[in-house]
Amino acid sequence: MNNAAKNIHLSSGYVMPLVGFGTYKIQGRDVIYEVVDESLKVGFRSIDTAVVYRNEKDIGYALKTLLPKYNLQRSDIFITTKLSPSDHGDPKGIEQSVQRSLKALDTTYIDLYLIHWPAVSRTPESSMNNPSLRAKTWDKLIELKKQGLIRSIGVSNYTIKHLEELLQNCKDTLPVVNQVELHPHYRQKELIKYCNEKGIHVQAYSSLGTSSSTDLLKDPIVVKVASQLNVSPARLLLNWALQQGIGIIPKAIKKEHIRDNIQLNFVIDEESMKALSCLPQHKYTWDPSNVY
Ligand SMILES: NC(=O)c1ccc[n+]([C@@H]2O[C@H](COP(=O)([O-])OP(=O)(O)OC[C@H]3O[C@@H](n4cnc5c(N)ncnc54)[C@H](OP(=O)(O)O)[C@@H]3O)[C@@H](O)[C@H]2O)c1
Repeated sequence: MNNAAKNIHLSSGYVMPLVGFGTYKIQGRDVIYEVVDESLKVGFRSIDTAVVYRNEKDIGYALKTLLPKYNLQRSDIFITTKLSPSDHGDPKGIEQSVQRSLKALDTTYIDLYLIHWPAVSRTPESSMNNPSLRAKTWDKLIELKKQGLIRSIGVSNYTIKHLEELLQNCKDTLPVVNQVELHPHYRQKELIKYCNEKGIHVQAYSSLGTSSSTDLLKDPIVVKVASQLNVSPARLLLNWALQQGIGIIPKAIKKEHIRDNIQLNFVIDEESMKALSCLPQHKYTWDPSNVY
């Protein structure tokens, strides 16, 4: 089976495609329209955005216009968006933000709503207020979930410390997903083990090493293993995550990239997986490890 067609059963009872389309740094109505068109055409059924990406409105417009072209309904698409750190910890601001996202995305519900970052804007990362602000946010998200505005709630960039604290106060509503930077240059073994034990699905971001660096795609071991398997380095990196049961949300603007990123019907043998699991570690994006 093509790994790209697989779904994951979330602890909330909803089903999410294991492969989604990332949209960080994709902006502008025409560009968004074109990438959404291509991604739907090749088979993506899940899309990842965030308030801070400033593209929800254009995604909403593109989906509304394009779904009929592919004979799809809103219910065939899984939409993830994320709370801006500037509204984190403020129940009124969170409700207004969710309402704005619903309006921008032109939808009556959000499939998955994530706390984008464990810290709150304008509050130092080291602030001892961060845990109580996170707890306030979680309580508010539970309320919005009960109202049906959000189907599943989760977190992003949470370390084991942040998850442990959340699980102690989560009022029986577990985070369904922890979306984190994860790839062969930043493997996060401990975090994956912890999330698997707790039933939290790990979704990888920056699987290709971000839009700002080609170091991962050009890593000599990645290039060598990809060539041995006769796949592109990107496909190798994406399947490396899928083979561990980790979700992916690759971002691409170029059509050939969008098409490439869903061709995941091959197997990475054990030896190649091992080779990818010995690479030096490097984090490419923001680091939550100092967030109190
Ligand atoms: N929760 C968070 O804090 C967080 C943080 C970062 C990202 N994310 C999410 O994760 C998504 C993915 O991460 P990312 O945006 O950092 O980037 P990424 O997916 O790691 O990499 C994107 C880069 O890879 C290139 N690319 C894509 N497919 C390729 C292929 N088949 N061959 C060669 N190059 C290819 C893209 O080029 P082109 O665009 O030119 O095609 C772009 O330069 C984001 O878009 C966002 O939705 C979440």
